[in-house]
Amino acid sequence: MITLSNEEKVLKNFINGEWMDVAERENVYNPADGKEFLEVPNSDAAAMDQAVEAARIAQKDWALVPAPQRAEILYKIGAIMKKKKERLSQLLTLENGKVIEEARGEVQEGIDMAFYMAGEGRRLFGQTTPAELKDKFAMSQRHPVGVVGIITPWNFPIAIATWKTFPAMVAGNTVIWKPSSETPMMASELAKIFKEAGLPKGVVNVVYGSGATIGQAMIEQEAIRVISFTGSNETGRKVATECGKQLKKVSLEMGGKNAVIVMEDADIDLAVEGILWSAFGTSGQRCTACSRVIVHKDVREILEKRLLEEMKGLTIGDGLDTKNKVGPIINQAGLDKILKYMEIGKEEGAKLLAGGKQLTVKNYEKGFYFEPTLFTDVTIDMRIAQEEVFGPVVSLIEVNDFEEAIAVNNKVKYGLSSSIYTQNVNRVFKAQRDLDTGIVYVNAGTTGAEIHLPFGGTKGTGNGHRDSGVQALDVFTEWKAVYVDYSGKLQRAQIDTDA
Ligand code: SIN
Repeated sequence: MITLSNEEKVLKNFINGEWMDVAERENVYNPADGKEFLEVPNSDAAAMDQAVEAARIAQKDWALVPAPQRAEILYKIGAIMKKKKERLSQLLTLENGKVIEEARGEVQEGIDMAFYMAGEGRRLFGQTTPAELKDKFAMSQRHPVGVVGIITPWNFPIAIATWKTFPAMVAGNTVIWKPSSETPMMASELAKIFKEAGLPKGVVNVVYGSGATIGQAMIEQEAIRVISFTGSNETGRKVATECGKQLKKVSLEMGGKNAVIVMEDADIDLAVEGILWSAFGTSGQRCTACSRVIVHKDVREILEKRLLEEMKGLTIGDGLDTKNKVGPIINQAGLDKILKYMEIGKEEGAKLLAGGKQLTVKNYEKGFYFEPTLFTDVTIDMRIAQEEVFGPVVSLIEVNDFEEAIAVNNKVKYGLSSSIYTQNVNRVFKAQRDLDTGIVYVNAGTTGAEIHLPFGGTKGTGNGHRDSGVQALDVFTEWKAVYVDYSGKLQRAQIDTDA
């Protein structure tokens, strides 16, 4: 197992290619055993000023580096990440708690994103299009926006960071990154990799600190023209309001209340596997986690029975122990929130079929563990069917038919991910059309995004932008329309069209 030197246990900001200490730090806890194991800077606004100045200066040169050359550095970053995959994965489990198999998956997602976005260095496609006048050429091009701000959460500290940072970089922007202070290691490790890969100083700057100080300072910086945020709905709304006042572009991803629909013709064993993986994997702490199961009345009984049987086999504990399938919750506040929803669910009249309690794991008594939980007899208006719990908790809702299943799926304020289990091809096509979410799975659970597809959602999940995929480039580029008139005379658009 990985051990950290004393030096590695004290993290620093990474500004202008240098490690910068700050006056104040705070402790970081390992969610598996509740012990402090790191110190992270609690920066003040002055650190943000420094980072912005570095990024502003670096951006002028970085934007002029041909995109294929910018991409070469991304290829190197991907190769170093690949070499360090096991180290990164173990550190990720240490700070986040997710089981090591999932941590390896997440690091792989970051590696994939590096290579995918490096490929964009030779594309970054614009369009050429006919001009309406003779001897005139027209095209559109992508240009960098300038300095961009990135705010990333603790649940996917490396994958989500790469969904945002790599498209920003390849497009010629420089980046100020505020990672979550719950999981600061991944940012520090990535910064080391950036340095090793030869990324010019100031292209990516990492500033740790609270949302109230560093997040706010980032938004207030005039030089930062885009903010890309993943986090809670409540904070996202505040970020959007502040950015709106300054006419700053803002991309938001704010969670989900994702459902798996199980129709009467579904392969029940397959559905059970998909529900277990997407509801209890990552201890339910994915934006895309399944937190509702919408089940056809004819198969409700069998589905409940099979879920209960399989839930018994879920081993819970330290994510570094490969026998465990479910790791801890991130911290005490996360646990308290889940516990609150246990009370809410019971008061609302839902029936607790399994779980519902905090768990004490032998030798990890101070860790933050929670039992995989299943509520049934849930109705669509209940808070446990509407609000994001962010834990291993599933609410089962019975429906009479396909149309009702779709309606129940859509009757929440979020719209991130959804899934349907059915063998009926007509329903498959209707479902992918009518499910009001940014991501739809057929005969698979609600998680498992791939980096070359757009990630994001409708309604309260976001504001129309997407992370990852080629679509992420839209967040970090400005479109420029270019007209070249080679007629040697004045040609007026819409007027001189007969000439
Ligand atoms: C997430 O939910 O944030 C991760 C993406 C996924 O696995 O679907």
